[in-house]
Amino acid sequence: MGSILNRKRKRIAVLASGNGSNMQAISDYSLKNDINGDVVFVVTNNPDAYALVRAKNANIKTFCIDFKKNIPRQEFDREISEAIKNEKIDLICLAGYMLLLNTVFISEYQNKIINIHPSLLPSFKGVHGIKDAFDYGVKVTGVTVHFVDCELDHGPIILQEAVQINEGETAQQLEAKIHEVEHKIYPLAVKYFCREELKIIGRKVCITERC
Ligand code: GAR
Repeated sequence: MGSILNRKRKRIAVLASGNGSNMQAISDYSLKNDINGDVVFVVTNNPDAYALVRAKNANIKTFCIDFKKNIPRQEFDREISEAIKNEKIDLICLAGYMLLLNTVFISEYQNKIINIHPSLLPSFKGVHGIKDAFDYGVKVTGVTVHFVDCELDHGPIILQEAVQINEGETAQQLEAKIHEVEHKIYPLAVKYFCREELKIIGRKVCITERC
């Protein structure tokens, strides 16, 4: 594997549709720790995404294409894909990006796209992971960071952390606890990727510093 000094520094793009707190967490962590990578590009499908404001405040280049403008899907996907290619991106982090990526793009960036999901996958896939777990009445839910493949919320799992749902807790309280865990484990997963410490063996991801 060799020293980290011999490994190319990774250019990270974050795709976000909303608040962008995970984007911020990754970017802040990368500035304070030697993760061998930098968030250089933020892409969004939503011109009102607060992620754009956060990116601009952090001097990160942005690209926005408004999904609501009825651009034909193929063209929309092509523009995003071209923007990312032009930036010579090594790692794509989905952080609350609420559109499915097209399968050609996923194949081109195989094992270079990761996602955060607010439940313990494979439970509660989809866009309402926190609420679905809360409404189901589970006592434990959590957060998953995983590689992206062509199936929804499905690729090999990098990190997971459980979050207890206590009696009397509200969905909002649970959401706050989930976000706190997200902001801790997403930057860690990014660090492992950028330092080339992840090995994918079938569905299993081995973190080489641990195995
Ligand atoms: C996060 O909770 C993330 O896990 C979730 O969207 C939120 C984005 O928050 N993603 C999904 O539900 C994906 N299915 P953020 O914009 O503040 O990072």
